[in-house]
Amino acid sequence: MALPPSPTAGVRDDDPAMSAQPIDDLSAELFQITAALRARLDWMRHGGVDGCPVPVQRPARSAQPQARSGPVADLPRSGAKAPQRPASVHPNAPVEPTWSAPSPDDPAALARAAVEQTSRMAARSQTAAPRSPVRSEAASTATTESPSGIVYPELASLPSGADGLRIIREVIGDCRRCNLCHGRNQLVFGEGHPEPWLAFIGEGPGADEDRTGLPFVGAAGDLLSKMIKAMGEHAHKLGFAELGTRLSREQVYIANVVKCRPPGNRTPEADEIAACGGFVRAQLAVLRPRVIVALGRTPTQFLLQNAAPLGRLRGQFGSWQGVPVMPTYHPAYLLRTPSAKGQVWDDLKLVILKLAELANLMPSGPSA
Ligand code: URA
Repeated sequence: MALPPSPTAGVRDDDPAMSAQPIDDLSAELFQITAALRARLDWMRHGGVDGCPVPVQRPARSAQPQARSGPVADLPRSGAKAPQRPASVHPNAPVEPTWSAPSPDDPAALARAAVEQTSRMAARSQTAAPRSPVRSEAASTATTESPSGIVYPELASLPSGADGLRIIREVIGDCRRCNLCHGRNQLVFGEGHPEPWLAFIGEGPGADEDRTGLPFVGAAGDLLSKMIKAMGEHAHKLGFAELGTRLSREQVYIANVVKCRPPGNRTPEADEIAACGGFVRAQLAVLRPRVIVALGRTPTQFLLQNAAPLGRLRGQFGSWQGVPVMPTYHPAYLLRTPSAKGQVWDDLKLVILKLAELANLMPSGPSA
């Protein structure tokens, strides 16, 4: 079937038909196009994704993430189901956004939102000033660590710990910011101690996490639980008793770069990381962990903003906002490649020594 000719087909810059169009008409058309683009930007900013409705505003419910309690022995093991947590402490309890979208009939509100969006995009391209290891990153809307990441001004100046986490969860709401919303069953916010010494950041939820709303509860999660337990035991063996108590699944925090399961467990796309990355950055800012372990390539490249292969980055500390980051292999990779377990254990032992050093449990200096 013949396609209709493009409206601009055959038109050249020097075409008299072009120059004959009055300038006023052109600027009116340009104005309309700009207004339409602004309205679309604003719609996307408020959660609009093609094919996904903007979330309906409902009264907010409280969802205060809490550390789990109970012995490490209660944690899921291979083949075992994740233990049931009381609904009231589920970190994924849905909370609606606290902002309300301007009506599409209100051009002034749309214009204001478009201006806000533009200033946010401009802020993103600026260079953040060097900051102290006190992680108030969320207070800065300008960041170089994720040039393509969206910065959410609602996450500026958050309180630390559980209160900050609760606000981040509220801002995420019933998220429709990227296409991952289409396939998810549950959004996986993160779980653990709100003031941990150590945080683990993975890539994104898998099938078990999508079903339960909790991070790392599948086979890879079982292995991660064992790794954390082994770290605690090793710290005790080295004589770092207090550190040992901080290294249990309940005492660390675990989250992912993206909060919704990518279809078929594929690697998250750049735009999905850009839409979601601001939330894990805000989580880390309020958690203030002393050390971060990046599990796999995606969180490593995201946190360190370094595209080098994981094999080259693992085993040595990088830095996120002044916090030491240890990149290492993902537990799912270890399940496929058990021969890499020794390298990961070496990396985790360096993390233990770094934590001991930061807690003044041992003299600082190059750690073995
Ligand atoms: N893999 C991840 O990266 N995160 C999870 O939560 C589970 C598996």
